Amino acid sequence: MLETVVCTRAMEFIPEPAEAAPRLHLLVVDSDAAMRSACAEIAATLGYAAEDTRNLEQARSLLRGQAVDILLVNLPWGNSQGVDLVSEVKLLYPQISIIAMTASGSVNAAVEAMRCGASDYLTKPFAIDELSAVLDRAAASHTTDTVTRQLRERLRLSQGLGAMIGRSAEMEKLYRILSKVAQSTHPVLVLGESGTGKELVARTIHAYGPNAHKPFLPVDCGSLVPTLIESELFGYVKGAFTGANRSKDGLLISAEGGTVFLDEIGELSLDLQAKLLRALQEKEVRPVGASHRVPIKARILAATNRDLATMVENGAFRKDLFYRLNVVNLRLPPLRDRREDIPLLAAHFLDRISREHGTKFTLSDEALRTMMRHDWPGNVRELENAVERACALSSGPVLHLGDLPTQLQQEGLAAHRAATAAGQADTAKDGQTVTPLAELERQAIVGAIHALNGDKLQAAKLLGIGKTTLYRKLKEYGISGSFEDE
Ligand SMILES: Nc1ncnc2c1ncn2[C@@H]1O[C@H](COP(=O)(O)OP(=O)(O)OP(=O)(O)O)[C@@H](O)[C@H]1O
Ligand SMILES: [Mg+2]
Repeated sequence: MLETVVCTRAMEFIPEPAEAAPRLHLLVVDSDAAMRSACAEIAATLGYAAEDTRNLEQARSLLRGQAVDILLVNLPWGNSQGVDLVSEVKLLYPQISIIAMTASGSVNAAVEAMRCGASDYLTKPFAIDELSAVLDRAAASHTTDTVTRQLRERLRLSQGLGAMIGRSAEMEKLYRILSKVAQSTHPVLVLGESGTGKELVARTIHAYGPNAHKPFLPVDCGSLVPTLIESELFGYVKGAFTGANRSKDGLLISAEGGTVFLDEIGELSLDLQAKLLRALQEKEVRPVGASHRVPIKARILAATNRDLATMVENGAFRKDLFYRLNVVNLRLPPLRDRREDIPLLAAHFLDRISREHGTKFTLSDEALRTMMRHDWPGNVRELENAVERACALSSGPVLHLGDLPTQLQQEGLAAHRAATAAGQADTAKDGQTVTPLAELERQAIVGAIHALNGDKLQAAKLLGIGKTTLYRKLKEYGISGSFEDE
């Protein structure tokens, strides 16, 4: 039996505000005292918490005892000791980024170290810039790995990713790709039927990306006329058109490294498609009415519920723009393909509404059963609306089938009738008796008249039928004789 959804969910992951990055710990291991202290000192000036040691055993105890983020180790170290340390660290502390230092001419040692898990190497002698660049790369990959790991951990504990709810295999797959693409700044094309959560996905990519603190600017290409979209996206200069009393930056400029979300991209006119393509290729735009071009840094996310590939074939969408936007695409599954998420989503919406109303709403078993069977052509948005409507209409804290939209009520009733008929057929098949409706009606009439000591008027009233109907039925069932009117 399905459990009634209880609104206990309060744990919603709103991404935390970006914090200042913590100082990364660097351990330098080299028998050359001058070299290792120089490296440690330079690293300290670059903002790392640096320590150094000459001794492999001491290195091992430092690695055991404290959180090291980056290991800078000299190779070769005696026979294969340095390389051994690399593979040992890779196995024991895979989160540590390892940089191998080699004397020039020991390319083999560097290759071997990379094979054992070092992520980078430096050939001695090296300039401060080289050390700085290699440390920066290690730090960046360390931070990305840590963020990805933290996201995975949060995912394991939560009911979804960020504000996105769902633990079905389809959604888990989506979260895995999403948490990866969030770390990059490539364009992403979000595809899916209406109401599947395309805008929510775009917001989540932005919220988990490196520029979460910068703006997220949505543009609805479906609802604006082309001239407005152009001035929205690219901006305009004073006097560009009637009413342009002053210059205005377009969204691609004002995003300043944030995200511009091009919603319903399939609706963009061919002329604007060409202008957008140019802007993306050249990373600059020409505001309407301007003769100059302005550089842009925005990340582009786009969404559509249309079949862009077919539009490309039909010449309604530019192939080159399609390829540029489609570097990564995320296809959102329709809700009917992940029905196991329906109870979670319903609980999530009930929880939100319960908090807003101060009433703890729950769904009856029958209501939830019906929701699980429904096909939800309008996907999550339709589900959200159905739950909101039920809360508004319901007379108490439990939402029944009768509080759901008419179509769901009908589906629920039809399913109930089918189940009852199937149940009766089963009973009959098992050799047990089935009571015909007419017999049940006869028993009800006889019982009522008996209980009321023969008062037929009152019996008719309580049975919910008129007196004439009662007399007709008494006649039909051949029971009138025993209850003659006084
Ligand atoms: N996985 C989810 N978890 C929680 N809420 C969701 C989820 N997916 C969608 N929603 C909610 O459903 C509603 C519709 O989502 P959204 O607007 O992102 O869909 P869409 O795909 O952009 O729809 P359309 O194509 O109609 O524009 C929003 O209120 C959103 O918050
Ligand atoms: Mg949308």
